[in-house]
Amino acid sequence: MDVTFRIRRFNPEVPGKNRPYWQEFTVKDAEETDRVLELMHRIKWEQDGTLTFRRACAHGICGSDAMRINGVNRLACKMLVRDTGDKIQLEPIIGLPVLKDLVVDMEPFFAHYRSVMPFFVNDSPLPADGRERLQSIEDREKFDDTTKCILCACCTSSCPSFWANGEYVGPAAIVQGHRFIFDTRDEGWEERLDSLADPNGVWRCRTIYNCTPACPRGIQVTRAIGEVKLAIQRGKRDGIIKEAAGPIAESNS
Ligand code: SF4
Ligand code: F3S
Ligand code: FES
Repeated sequence: MDVTFRIRRFNPEVPGKNRPYWQEFTVKDAEETDRVLELMHRIKWEQDGTLTFRRACAHGICGSDAMRINGVNRLACKMLVRDTGDKIQLEPIIGLPVLKDLVVDMEPFFAHYRSVMPFFVNDSPLPADGRERLQSIEDREKFDDTTKCILCACCTSSCPSFWANGEYVGPAAIVQGHRFIFDTRDEGWEERLDSLADPNGVWRCRTIYNCTPACPRGIQVTRAIGEVKLAIQRGKRDGIIKEAAGPIAESNS
């Protein structure tokens, strides 16, 4: 089959191309089992070498090729032509500055990621026998889902609350915070909950639910956000979280 691509392009360094515009390409003799990323490579290698996009693993692991495919956030390497049809529209993800064509500046996204301290914190001495810190199977299951995140930004860049206010820490950062907050071996959870109780933290989430279906890893993103909200409310009740932190007023949203 022949597949027609309509691609949102932008090159800030070339006069005439330094405003977003659409360009069409046709890829001939594609198979239904071809992945969108493979056909994008064919465009780049056979038709226009200036077409710019990120990719690395090509197997849904690195999270670098998130983009809007026919209007929804997906990884190009996981989308088959069988699922898109023979007309494919590609745009950069929304809410992050576009650098060139389908490449966005991920730094604001990673700044939010760093703000939740996405690393294990435990300064207590190891058990006397020198073995690792043990954890029950039940406790491990509490954060199993959120360990699967590949930081692709499909969730955060599909969230209208994030589009409206880029200061919102966003679902991906909350998922990363959840992974450590619910780890019984971690001792940094109070600081993380304090940070996520900030007015630009979890309370910016209005349960719009765009994030969960956008996640290529099938993570229950909205549920994880809800669990962090509950943990903050419990922390406030118990006097662990600052009293000033809490749901933002509707007028402040
Ligand atoms: Fe991507 Fe899912 Fe992680 Fe969001 S939660 S960054 S959509 S893997
Ligand atoms: Fe946004 Fe997901 Fe909440 S789409 S508002 S983070 S449920
Ligand atoms: Fe790595 Fe698609 S190229 S996830």
